[in-house]
Amino acid sequence: MAAEVSTTYTVPKLEDYSAAALDRAAAELQSALEQEAGAVQTEADHKNFRDRWMARKNGILTQINDLWLKAAPNEAKREVGRWVNELKIFVEQQIEKVQARISGGAQVSADKLDVTLPGTRRPLGAEHPVIKTMNDIVNVFRAMGYSVGTGPEIETDYYNFESLNFPPNHPARDTQDTLFIAGQESKPQRERLLLRTHTSPVQIRTMERQPPPVRVVIPGKVHRSDTADATHSPVFHQVEGLAVDNDITFCDLKGTLDHAMKALFGSDVKTRFFPSFFPFTEPSADVAVSCFKCGGKGCRICKQGGWIELLGCGMVDPNVFEFVKGNGYDPAKISGFAFGMGVERIAMCMYEIDDIQLFYQGDIRFLEQFA
Ligand code: DAH
Repeated sequence: MAAEVSTTYTVPKLEDYSAAALDRAAAELQSALEQEAGAVQTEADHKNFRDRWMARKNGILTQINDLWLKAAPNEAKREVGRWVNELKIFVEQQIEKVQARISGGAQVSADKLDVTLPGTRRPLGAEHPVIKTMNDIVNVFRAMGYSVGTGPEIETDYYNFESLNFPPNHPARDTQDTLFIAGQESKPQRERLLLRTHTSPVQIRTMERQPPPVRVVIPGKVHRSDTADATHSPVFHQVEGLAVDNDITFCDLKGTLDHAMKALFGSDVKTRFFPSFFPFTEPSADVAVSCFKCGGKGCRICKQGGWIELLGCGMVDPNVFEFVKGNGYDPAKISGFAFGMGVERIAMCMYEIDDIQLFYQGDIRFLEQFA
């Protein structure tokens, strides 16, 4: 708090203009000035102080001018004028000094650096749990000699559906609520663009680019016209797999996926394959793993069932090979298997997350648990 400043000094009228009287008046003024200057602490104090002494209207310097100089008898005017000027300069210097003291003080405290204070922590970024899970899955297959592929998120109807044995107007298309790009009615259906509904189109793209043998996993983002809720998101991620060679059998598929699930969830888990349908595989299967949490007894994670359904797979349908036959994929000579899994679903199981939306909200409190 600013100290109480006495501002009782007023400019007296001079009774005479003797040297003694002038000296006394000057001494009084100077001591009042110094006392007030000493009490100035803040910018606001300083403004008041400066106004009191320098204001054109009724500031102390103006009063000196009126009361001491103008009132002086003519013969003393010259001498008094010089003396008043010296006083003015003295006042101005005091005011500048005070200004320097208070702003200088602010400067010093702003410049002061306390090197013993702890530094500002910059939070380290970390892999998003979805990306981390996707990488974990991909790494399991890389360790088995698979390469890693990618493909476009905006796909043609041909790659997303037709070449995967979804014929035009076939009801199997309805299982994938597709987001089509508008205004393409004039194009042939197979050229129309859409947001890929799965990573499976990269199977065909890979086989177009390289002859067999193929062992590839394809991580990526996919889109479906789904309303967001605790288990659905219109944007999510998948990891696709494809192996094509001579004599690939369903045993290879089972062995590969059983190993992958054990690598991801622990060597105690068992896998179960049961019949399913996908247009691009024949036969097709869904794969469930025994609950890694309760060992199959039934718990919250497996919804009391003891098994968690995690992926789709099957032997590549010969109709699919027909589309890439020219590149060495003669369905009479080669065979293969494919699989596809949802990354969010696997991450939700692994980390016991019950709302898929948590992955997309960017809440640091959620994300930093995976750092
Ligand atoms: N593409 C399928 C889907 O999104 C998943 C899938 C099933 C992929 C079986 C495969 C497969 O490669 O063989 O539902």
